[in-house]
Amino acid sequence: MSVLIGKVPVDPPLILAPMAGVTDRDFRLIIRRIGGVGVVTMEFISSRALVGGYPKTLELMEFCEEERPLSIQIYGSDVDTMVEAARTVEQLGPDICDINMGCPANKVLAGCAGAALMGDLKLAEKMVGSVRKAISIPLTVKFRLGLNDTCRNYIELGKICEANGAAAVAMHARTAKQMFRGDAEWPEIARLKEALSIPVFGNGDVRAPEDALRMMAETGCDGVMIGRGATKNPWLFQQIAARMEGSSVTEPTVADRRDLILTHFQRVAEREEGRFALHKLRKFTGWYTHGLPHGRKLRQRINELPDVESFLRAVEEFFEEILEEAA
Ligand SMILES: Cc1cc2nc3c(=O)[nH]c(=O)nc-3n(C[C@H](O)[C@H](O)[C@H](O)COP(=O)(O)O)c2cc1C
Repeated sequence: MSVLIGKVPVDPPLILAPMAGVTDRDFRLIIRRIGGVGVVTMEFISSRALVGGYPKTLELMEFCEEERPLSIQIYGSDVDTMVEAARTVEQLGPDICDINMGCPANKVLAGCAGAALMGDLKLAEKMVGSVRKAISIPLTVKFRLGLNDTCRNYIELGKICEANGAAAVAMHARTAKQMFRGDAEWPEIARLKEALSIPVFGNGDVRAPEDALRMMAETGCDGVMIGRGATKNPWLFQQIAARMEGSSVTEPTVADRRDLILTHFQRVAEREEGRFALHKLRKFTGWYTHGLPHGRKLRQRINELPDVESFLRAVEEFFEEILEEAA
């Protein structure tokens, strides 16, 4: 089962959602190596920072061949800056460029970027059309249902994207005001799919393989985009792909989990500096140990550990303990 975004095959039709502070190159590679993912997306990139050539931003944008197909998401409110940023993105050579019109964070909204564009469809239209003309790789747009319940204009925005040359859209089926509250409203994904001819990727609350199959069956969407579900279970894409092929789903063993966590954490430790590395490791430990025996004890313990070395030792000991208990 495969979907085309422009000429890029998305096979299987599953996309790793952009997540700031999460979908960095280490995490993208982990997901890609496990398999079952059609496209991986970079965390969002500020068009202003990109055009300004900030070293930290350029560093965030490094990727390797093994990650392909890869999408780079940019955000901003100024059309000329977005055009220039998209041109720079294209030069870096990703497969897809995505525009963020769904971010509800105040910092982004205050700059009239992200979901704020859903409150100014004229600007959104100009942005999609201008960026489209500036680049030759496929352009996609990710948005929400609207700004709030009184402004649910996702069908209008979807049509604008389609008319201005977007190759596909992804919709997180909540309003910006909702942030992550309540349930994602999948029936709205079905409505968007009905209204458009370009591929529609449904997004929101896919946590298990059955959720992805159910979303596709209930909404008719062309593919599924997954964010948080992949942080708690990086095997999720592989499991969904297996279900799509009619194969049975295999659960990772405790040893698989240990290997994945330690490989990921070694990379973070090599790449990031002390405090930042510790912050990232704590965040991922919370997700990765979700549902494991004694996970809570480890999560409490790591809050007190002063450095990366003791952190890694604690994680190793934690797994030794559960593997011994299971033996
Ligand atoms: C930590 C975090 C960071 C996120 N960063 C971005 C981002 O950079 N760009 C974006 O379009 N959406 C971002 N999102 C939203 C996700 O891409 C996705 O739309 C949302 O989490 C709903 O999907 P899910 O239920 O599969 O997680 C972020 C979500 C989370 C939890």
